[in-house]
Amino acid sequence: MTKPDDQIIVIFGGRGDLATRKIIPALYALHRQGLMPGRYSILATGRSRVTDEEYRKEVVTAAGIDKADEEKESVRKYISAFHYAAIDPSAPGDYPVLAGILEKMRKENDIPGNTLFYLSLPPELYAPITRNLAAQKMNLEDEGWKRMIIEKPFGYDYDSAVSLNNILLDHWDESQLYRIDHYLGKETVQNILVTRFSNGIFEPLWNRNYVHHVEITSCESLGVEKRGAYYEGTGAMRDMIQNHLLHLAGFIAMEPPSSIDATSIRNELAKVFESLRPVRQEEAAKVAIRGQYTGAHVRGEWMKGYREEEGVNPDSLTETYAAIKFYIDNWRWGGVPFYVRTGKRLPTRVTEAVIHFKPTPHYLFSGKSPCEGCNQLIIRIQPDEGILLKFGMKIPGSGFNVRNVNMDFHYSDLAEGHIPEAYERLIYDCMNGDSTLYTRSDAVLAAWRFLDPVLQAWKNDHSIPVYGYPAGTWGPETADSLIEEPELTWRYPCKNLAEDGIFCEL
Ligand code: BG6
Repeated sequence: MTKPDDQIIVIFGGRGDLATRKIIPALYALHRQGLMPGRYSILATGRSRVTDEEYRKEVVTAAGIDKADEEKESVRKYISAFHYAAIDPSAPGDYPVLAGILEKMRKENDIPGNTLFYLSLPPELYAPITRNLAAQKMNLEDEGWKRMIIEKPFGYDYDSAVSLNNILLDHWDESQLYRIDHYLGKETVQNILVTRFSNGIFEPLWNRNYVHHVEITSCESLGVEKRGAYYEGTGAMRDMIQNHLLHLAGFIAMEPPSSIDATSIRNELAKVFESLRPVRQEEAAKVAIRGQYTGAHVRGEWMKGYREEEGVNPDSLTETYAAIKFYIDNWRWGGVPFYVRTGKRLPTRVTEAVIHFKPTPHYLFSGKSPCEGCNQLIIRIQPDEGILLKFGMKIPGSGFNVRNVNMDFHYSDLAEGHIPEAYERLIYDCMNGDSTLYTRSDAVLAAWRFLDPVLQAWKNDHSIPVYGYPAGTWGPETADSLIEEPELTWRYPCKNLAEDGIFCEL
């Protein structure tokens, strides 16, 4: 692994939830692996006033550094790399101050002009920040590179994504922008590329001739927690499907890239998104289902319904569950349905992609249907990352009785105990100027273009139901109607606990 260039990292929103839960722990993990630059400083900014010393105490807590480690020379050096400045991100007058602080830090630590700006703030601040930085020439690359990490949501719909993009591109070049989708930083998502393109055995089967359908599920047992106000304006389709899960589908569906570099991979992803069969507003009720959790007892504990959550409108129609069926109109996938679902307050936390292979054309053995649940390749994104292949085997003894068996690989067996967190990988890549796992604007816009008609229909057509589902269940039963074939349903990952090895929280 290469060490990144010497640089300064500026975290806008340095005391916020994302910085303390994800960014600071990821930077500490990189430090422990020796993957931080030789020379670096980190400037956290925010509206509140705290001293460097006070902020460093917050860093120690956020990174989970214990007393013994805190005394170590290298850890002390890591903690003292953090500085704090009270900057109002929307106030142009604060930016000359910011420029001055960065200049001083550079001189003191002999760091060149390389600067990574991390916008860990709500998207309405992206425009003023990008403009204000540019006004002070902090976007110019004459004395070192300048990069900017932007958190999702990248817009609210197609039009707002276009205008956000235009604002960003007014002052910054696409090559300087790193739109983070943390799903792409997950090891198991990247492993989809390795599974597909480092093994000759899967690729010949990975197409419409052998694949019956593809299913992607991302469930969470948590509700909206303290994010009710944010979620009200978002909903499951925008929060998970527009970005994370469509990208996951993109990795499963893409053609082999010409090489493993950012441009080739992103070109292939963009091609998948451009091939999504457009959905018309009138079809929305047929191809997508929305639901909202209602109050219920889960493991003896009462779980509030979504409408009772803090910050949520008591008449809210925001979906906490969304499922959609779509097609990718190209030579590889023509006619193969993709089913994607996500939801909060479901029975467990699991994200998986299932490739359902076609059954044999003629079934020779006992039982009326081909081995139920056989012919599936399950890519477990989380938890218990791994790959499971389900196929039929003869039960020993007389006759030809077939049973579904598993070949199960656990990713942790390869990882020597440490599977890097998505943010670790993504921040490291940005420090190194590798944008492969960041989303490019054409893919973001294509994803919005595809989903916009459904979102419009959900907004305007109140005859499309928001199905209630009790907390702790698998979402609205009507979601099964998306899978039109008789005898086929979604895969319920912890129904077969012993078989799947998936821990079911219920
Ligand atoms: C975030 C969504 O992007 O992803 C959250 O805003 C969701 O609502 C989270 O909980 C899920 O991420 P993970 O890594 O826990 O699957």
